[in-house]
Amino acid sequence: MAHYYSLGNIPHKRHTQFRRPDGELYSEQLFSTEGFSNDYSLLYHIYPPTEIIKTDDPINVQPEIAEEKMLKHRSLEGFNIKPEKDYLQSRKAVLVNNDCHIVLAAPQQSMTDYFYKNADADEMIFVHEGNGVLKTQYGNLEFGYGDYLVIPRGTIHQIEFATENNRLFIVESFSPIRYPKKYMSKLGQLMEHSPYCERDIRPPHNLQTHDETGDFLIKTKKKGIQYGIHYAHHPFDVIGWDGCCYPFAFSIHDFEPITGRVHQPPPVHQTFEANNFVVCSFCPRLFDYHPLAIPAPYNHSNIDSDEVLYYVDGDFMSRKHVTRGMITLHPAGIPHGPHPGAVKKSIGAKETGELAVMVDTFHPLQLTKAALEIENEGYVMSWAE
Ligand SMILES: [Fe+2]
Repeated sequence: MAHYYSLGNIPHKRHTQFRRPDGELYSEQLFSTEGFSNDYSLLYHIYPPTEIIKTDDPINVQPEIAEEKMLKHRSLEGFNIKPEKDYLQSRKAVLVNNDCHIVLAAPQQSMTDYFYKNADADEMIFVHEGNGVLKTQYGNLEFGYGDYLVIPRGTIHQIEFATENNRLFIVESFSPIRYPKKYMSKLGQLMEHSPYCERDIRPPHNLQTHDETGDFLIKTKKKGIQYGIHYAHHPFDVIGWDGCCYPFAFSIHDFEPITGRVHQPPPVHQTFEANNFVVCSFCPRLFDYHPLAIPAPYNHSNIDSDEVLYYVDGDFMSRKHVTRGMITLHPAGIPHGPHPGAVKKSIGAKETGELAVMVDTFHPLQLTKAALEIENEGYVMSWAE
């Protein structure tokens, strides 16, 4: 999905002899997606990436489903997810289906004694609070407030946080996360009408090559099970790589909103897509400028998608009682719209400072036990107040 990039040293020709200073061969690794039929990268390791020395007992980390089927507007108090020291333990899946898991996390500590690999989901981490460095085999990515970190499945990584106060909104996607097709040219460039372009994408940099022998634990998640796999060499022993499959960062603050004379529908806010869901960014923008425009959204029946909104910052003009980190879920099957009074109040408003991330799934979401623990009861009746 990303564009061709290269860091470090690579041989002139792929699949040919490439030797270390001591005369031994570097180990080439093809990192390919959708079998061998889509984007890929080639990585050159000092040591083979296959030297497993120990395996731990598997741990079940499958989210516990509390409500498999339901038809009710829901609201979750995202910042009520309790901070936890360990990054993986801090991650709480709240809304899930077969296409994606929506996860909240408030990790307090950096990952230092293990690495993490999600073997069957790309991850999109939206950084609501906190900053630090995402360390990968491809190099490092500094991150801060408002960054989307997109990490292809299989990418071995560690996250180093600069502070203890971190709030993350994470989407695990069981299909590749892509730029929206409607913004891509036939040959893969982001076109002029796209709300962001290649310059806004931050690829990894500062490739650090670790030539270290020892016991390196990679906690690897696959199909809801976490496997502890120990390797004989540091996984970041890459001397160079090139290709189109690598983690990157994109700041929501670099998303240029598309506005119009009358209310624009949610697809203008689209940022990423995957199979059966999209991600949208609602950013500070000028409101509609038709003399009779109504800036608040119309009531709508999203009959084909469950609509998840994650409130980041600013004043949300269409809704009452909104807090930072709140999630609303408006499921397919019943209409929703502005809260009472919001339509009239919006008339004449010139701009909004709202910042939010939306995930629209084309199949229903299920609520987990973790979701019910942070639910705002009675939200479904909030339009009748
Ligand atoms: Fe909506």
